[in-house]
Amino acid sequence: MVDLAGSEEHAARILVASNRGPVSYSLGDDGELESRRGGGGLVSGLSAIGPEAGAVWVCAALGEGDREAVRRGVGEPGSRMIAIEPDVFHAAYNDIANSALWFVHHMLYQTPLEPLFDEEFRTQWAAYQTYNAAFADALAEEAAEGAAVLVQDYHLSLVPAMLRERRPDLRVGHFSHTPWAPPDYFRLLPDDIAAELLEGILGADRAAFLTRRWADAFAACCVAVLGATLSDDGLEITWRGRTTRLGVHGLGADGDFLRERSRRPDVADRIEALRTEAGPGRKLIVRVDRTELSKNIVRGLLAYRQLLTDHPGWRTRVVHLAFAYPSRQDLSIYREYTAEVARVADEINAEFGTADWKPVLLKVDDDFARSLAAYRLADVALVNPIRDGMNLVAKEVPVVSDNGVALVLSREAGAFEELGDDAIVVNPYDIRATAAALNTALTQPDADRTDRTKRLASAATALPPSQWFLDQLHALDD
Ligand code: F6P
Repeated sequence: MVDLAGSEEHAARILVASNRGPVSYSLGDDGELESRRGGGGLVSGLSAIGPEAGAVWVCAALGEGDREAVRRGVGEPGSRMIAIEPDVFHAAYNDIANSALWFVHHMLYQTPLEPLFDEEFRTQWAAYQTYNAAFADALAEEAAEGAAVLVQDYHLSLVPAMLRERRPDLRVGHFSHTPWAPPDYFRLLPDDIAAELLEGILGADRAAFLTRRWADAFAACCVAVLGATLSDDGLEITWRGRTTRLGVHGLGADGDFLRERSRRPDVADRIEALRTEAGPGRKLIVRVDRTELSKNIVRGLLAYRQLLTDHPGWRTRVVHLAFAYPSRQDLSIYREYTAEVARVADEINAEFGTADWKPVLLKVDDDFARSLAAYRLADVALVNPIRDGMNLVAKEVPVVSDNGVALVLSREAGAFEELGDDAIVVNPYDIRATAAALNTALTQPDADRTDRTKRLASAATALPPSQWFLDQLHALDD
């Protein structure tokens, strides 16, 4: 346990911990550090409490630029970056968090050949423990007596229990931004590791999720794996004499920000460019994703191909704008998937394309203004993940849409719980059904689409990031 007496370091009243922080650094050719600010729910959530709240954001140094920033003592006020040994970081982030845990929670394994929980996996697991312990140490050092700590995501599942050991005075919340696997799938993990992950999160006072479905799955795992006791309302888990409350906070879109940002001139320029490239008057089916294995981009393209096959009347009258921004390219399976997306898009263009119609416009260079332009233009938004904690694209498109949008939505996205009534819902594995849904979406009557878009936008903005963040904080006080 850390001794608090007389220390001035323990100043933070509110702490956030996440793998990726608000700022990342890169080293320029001139040896100067350049900083880049990220977006997302946490960044806007934290800004809601203002600088006077004395908050500190603890994050990992992700690359060489970040590690150099730590060496030079460069940093944002209110944030602390931890420089973890590159090998340890790689094993914890790529091998455990983004391979094993991401695959389990999104149910991505092709089980005849994987996963392989061998000696190498045990070494990687030890790195994940070391990485979590580094966060627990940093948080224990920074936190004032009785401070509130909000730990984010599957990278940091062990932190709550580790932190409780070091600082029992703190109030700790854990938030999962991913789905949670059902017990039968979660139990693919070695038994001791499955138990360690659950006990890690149960070290928190509150464990929160994006939907009730994921919270229930977590509770079911605690019962099945640990033999923990669940309260009648299913929202309190008792294990070894301690009770952890479960919470559900469905992060929404930041409506004010999106409406303002999507009306700026750079977005108008992109709208014009996209219209010209797609061809005037053509219907647009839009998808915008990071190229993660769980986003189901390949099946989305196959469904579009099926649409063009089943309904030849759409040929030359529709274009699929597929924005698939590369992600986690350190992992070979992500690189292969990214290449497969491009291959299938090329195949569709070769099969159906004509001199003046390119059926798929695939864009892989991340351009936020162009994404917003596509949101505004979309006649149909295709959001068909295999599994997704929430999926904010499904929420963002209706908010900024110019003329209304028909949303084709996977029932396996967390957003389905809030948007399902006004979306055209699909089983993400069913290519024929997804093709039929695209056809229904393209032919949705205007008045119906307008009404649905209004209701979708209002459900999508019900819990903006600032409120989402404050709700979690206040819930820790109860
Ligand atoms: O989208 C789910 C999520 O877990 C986010 O909470 C988190 O920011 C992101 O994935 C992690 O992605 P990356 O590996 O790019 O940091």
